[in-house]
Amino acid sequence: MIGSIAASTVNEDERFVTDVSVTTGTRHAVGTCELTGKNDIVTDEEMALNLTRPLVLAPMAGGPSTPRLAAEVAEAGGLPFLAAGYLSPEKLGEDIVELESRISKPYGINLFVPDHQGQDCDRDAYESYRQQIATTLDIPESLLPAEPVWSDDYFEAKLGVALESSARFVSFTFGHPSAAVIERVHAAGKLAVLYATSRPGLNAVAASGADVIGIQGANAGGHRATVFGVDDDSAEPLVSLIEYALSISDKPVFAGGGIATSADVLEVLRAGATAVQVGTLFLDAEEAGTKETHRWALRNLKDRDTVVTRAFTGRPARAISNRFTDTLSDAAPALYPQLHYLTSGLRKKAAEGEDAESLNLWAGTGFPHASSKSAGRIVRELFPYHPSANGSKRA
Ligand SMILES: Cc1cc2nc3c(=O)[nH]c(=O)nc-3n(C[C@H](O)[C@H](O)[C@H](O)COP(=O)(O)O)c2cc1C
Repeated sequence: MIGSIAASTVNEDERFVTDVSVTTGTRHAVGTCELTGKNDIVTDEEMALNLTRPLVLAPMAGGPSTPRLAAEVAEAGGLPFLAAGYLSPEKLGEDIVELESRISKPYGINLFVPDHQGQDCDRDAYESYRQQIATTLDIPESLLPAEPVWSDDYFEAKLGVALESSARFVSFTFGHPSAAVIERVHAAGKLAVLYATSRPGLNAVAASGADVIGIQGANAGGHRATVFGVDDDSAEPLVSLIEYALSISDKPVFAGGGIATSADVLEVLRAGATAVQVGTLFLDAEEAGTKETHRWALRNLKDRDTVVTRAFTGRPARAISNRFTDTLSDAAPALYPQLHYLTSGLRKKAAEGEDAESLNLWAGTGFPHASSKSAGRIVRELFPYHPSANGSKRA
């Protein structure tokens, strides 16, 4: 099998001791994660990533993703992604310069693909939801833009910045890029990652020119990449989606969603994923740019459930439940990104005012396991072994 990882546990003293063997095409390596795909433009050597720990740091737009966080994860042997979403092209460029000054290891950049159909906004639904927020939360209307805002999130400009960078991967969410965009990624010598959340989505990604299939399971924090009309918001278990992906394609798979412990990591790798993608567990990492109010909620609201809600952005996203999700989830129309801009002022105010009940507390179901440590330590605790130190070979 190409691009898969076989991982096994050795239960000594009830400790989680694991050696990970990686089979890539005709080669077999222990202690090194190498990715290979079928793409002709990429040689095996170019694909070698030397990830000592097969972990992908999920891109986390809105503040948490920082070059420092990415660098720390890369130093610990993982593959970090910078989040380009909501940034200006200039800020993305600055983040890239900072990351590249800190590391010379592979990393990726994640872009939001705009949905041009979303420009047709149902103004009545928008205004009705706007009034509902103002009344329910007793918020001055001046904080809530009367005119719906749509934006393409500077897609073309940021794609240009990403292609100019030394990033090894460019990943896309909220939509599938055109074949021409994927060709440009390849022409720039980079690998394209597309995400799916269901079997139909996996079929579409497998048939695209993507080099890596990303899977975001139902327990994932924040927005999933679901492309409505192509993909669906399936609740199929992550392991079963990984198995399906491997049955239809031999491309490497990055998979995650709801990862809480090293045992979860092992389950995903055993199912055949090339690397496990983790976001929420890094939200309270020292190097993350997560807002203090969000960090407070991660530490103090551990007894709450997470819910999938459209209330903040108009797109389903998983968050720790709070007054905002309890009172507004049912009313929220599917208007992305208009609701994102509608609520951004009040979310900024909530963050500054330490009001966790009105903030979008994005989190996967594993959030009670998030902890305020260095990102390197979090990586090492998720992979409580050092593959190369183990030395044992598996045929
Ligand atoms: C705060 C936050 C922001 C996120 N932002 C992005 C993003 O910009 N792009 C993206 O593709 N996924 C984003 N995600 C989703 C992650 O890529 C990933 O699916 C998720 O973090 C995995 O689940 P976990 O959070 O339970 O580990 C975000 C997730 C969180 C928690």
